[in-house]
Amino acid sequence: MRLLLRFLRPHKKLVAITLLVVLLDNTGTLLVPTMLANMVNTGIATGDFNHIVQGGALMLGASMLASGGAITGTYLAARLASNVARDIRDAIYERSLAFSNSDFERFGTGSMITRSLNDMNVVQQSIIATIQMVLPLPFLCIVGIFMACLIDWQMGMLLAAVTAVVMVIAVVTIVNAAPIFMRLQKLIDRMNVVLRESIIGVRVIRAFTKERHEERRLDEVFSDYASSAIKVNMMFAGVDAASFFLMNIAEVAVLWLGGNRVGAHAMEIASISAVLEYAMLILFYIMAAQMVALTLPRAKACLDRASEVVDLVPEIRDGADAACAAKGAAADARGNEAVAAFDHATFKFSDADEDTLHDLNFTCRRGQTTAIIGSTGSGKSTVAKLLLRFHDVTDGSVSFCDADVRAMTQESLRDRIAYVPQKAWLFSGTVASNLRFGNEGATEDEMRHALEVAQAGFVDELPDGLQARVAQGGTNFSGGQRQRLSIARALMKHADLYIFDDSFSALDFKTDAALRRALVDETRDAAVLIIAQRISTILHADQIVVLKDGVVVGLGTHEELMRDCAVYRAIADSQMKGGAGDDQR
Ligand SMILES: Nc1ncnc2c1ncn2[C@@H]1O[C@H](COP(=O)(O)OP(=O)(O)OP(=O)(O)O)[C@@H](O)[C@H]1O
Ligand SMILES: [Mg+2]
Repeated sequence: MRLLLRFLRPHKKLVAITLLVVLLDNTGTLLVPTMLANMVNTGIATGDFNHIVQGGALMLGASMLASGGAITGTYLAARLASNVARDIRDAIYERSLAFSNSDFERFGTGSMITRSLNDMNVVQQSIIATIQMVLPLPFLCIVGIFMACLIDWQMGMLLAAVTAVVMVIAVVTIVNAAPIFMRLQKLIDRMNVVLRESIIGVRVIRAFTKERHEERRLDEVFSDYASSAIKVNMMFAGVDAASFFLMNIAEVAVLWLGGNRVGAHAMEIASISAVLEYAMLILFYIMAAQMVALTLPRAKACLDRASEVVDLVPEIRDGADAACAAKGAAADARGNEAVAAFDHATFKFSDADEDTLHDLNFTCRRGQTTAIIGSTGSGKSTVAKLLLRFHDVTDGSVSFCDADVRAMTQESLRDRIAYVPQKAWLFSGTVASNLRFGNEGATEDEMRHALEVAQAGFVDELPDGLQARVAQGGTNFSGGQRQRLSIARALMKHADLYIFDDSFSALDFKTDAALRRALVDETRDAAVLIIAQRISTILHADQIVVLKDGVVVGLGTHEELMRDCAVYRAIADSQMKGGAGDDQR
């Protein structure tokens, strides 16, 4: 709820105007029955035509106030709800950009999507319904009963008693319904997760002929949702029927007492219809408010889920950057200075038992290529992620141009690093729009140059060239093409450090060699970090870091390591024997 108030605050004016308009609408509605009773009691009973016309004109005014208020109120409520939902969605997305990997894992992609889309729709609809149906209720009840009391106090008391009984029933129903709605929201989350997984993994499912298995899994989740939804609808149906029943009872009670009161000359005949209208109006609003209130626990659950994201303090926070930027700038002028350095850096995932990386000590220097090799799962990609500050070290430090990365802002750090992730991901759009991700103002020539260096000549052969369409994730390109496009994207950026995480693995040996040759010129003034599985890719690096289970077991050139490092020799031997020898260069 705090979250809602926070996001309503900027729209204070709109909230006030909307409430005022809804109030006017209800005032108009409440005036009509009394006016009608007056017109009938005085005008028709005495045959005073002028009184009837006057009364009619007043009623017309009140109805216009009510209907004008209703139309404007609906528009304003919708506008307010859309603005608030938009702001919360923006805040969720903005916060998610600051998440570290483990922050993300807390929620998962499916849940993040449900929270932004479905949850916010629920909140949006609830705001509209609450403004129109719930907020006017106290006003309508109090004024309605008061007007009925003015007509006849006994009738007013009857109306108050009926209202109290119906209110109690409504509250009991709402309290009982809340857990089912909470469950419903969790099930939507679950459906989203399972559906996403099976849609994205559809090829694997087919390849392993697991269609039946997946169908069963999905059916289970859908059935769970269906049975909860049926329960909810049964409840709505029950509430609906009970409300109409109570309305009828109230009608009978009003007519019965009204008849008696008229018989006792305590009130006039047309006043019965006024009280009846007040009774119906109040009961209708209670019924509608009850329906809305039934969904409010769900909206609250949605808001709470949004708060979990928006209020999460990201694990990785910016440092006070100024000094570091200055240091980096000064360091640029020197020759082979350290760009990135690991100093006794140790890292452990929060859910892991052992260190993923342990006591790393090495430096990536400007103008030099540093390579990291190691078996799968040895921690190579994690090294890159520490440099980019997707994670923070648990011990020791990582520095960039002499400044601890934790003291820099993430933006200024990442601005100076060009990163090719292990899993090449492209965005839907065109080749050009993807390349401009690396440099917004890039010219066509710059793009063509980057593509040339990245050995992505295939783009020229596409009918649309740079404007060729890229599907979400880049799935309309082959693995190797995607890799080259993501290398070109990184090259669009003029960085101090270029990180290639296993970026040459999907390339054939010839392209791999040509690309690395072209890269030499391109990255001459920067430090380069190449993560690879193939010895041939890193053979000529200035220094090679050999990782084994997160520990550096060798550091030196290819020749030095062949001489001194048994782990490196074993990797090299296995690749030579495997036929992946170095006749490729
Ligand atoms: N989010 C995570 N939570 C917990 N453990 C993780 C997480 N990501 C990676 N790991 C573990 O950290 C270790 C190192 O992973 P990393 O991705 O750095 O390996 P890698 O050397 O790049 O492997 P590959 O050659 O297959 O890319 C692995 O054992 C992995 O299980
Ligand atoms: Mg990796």
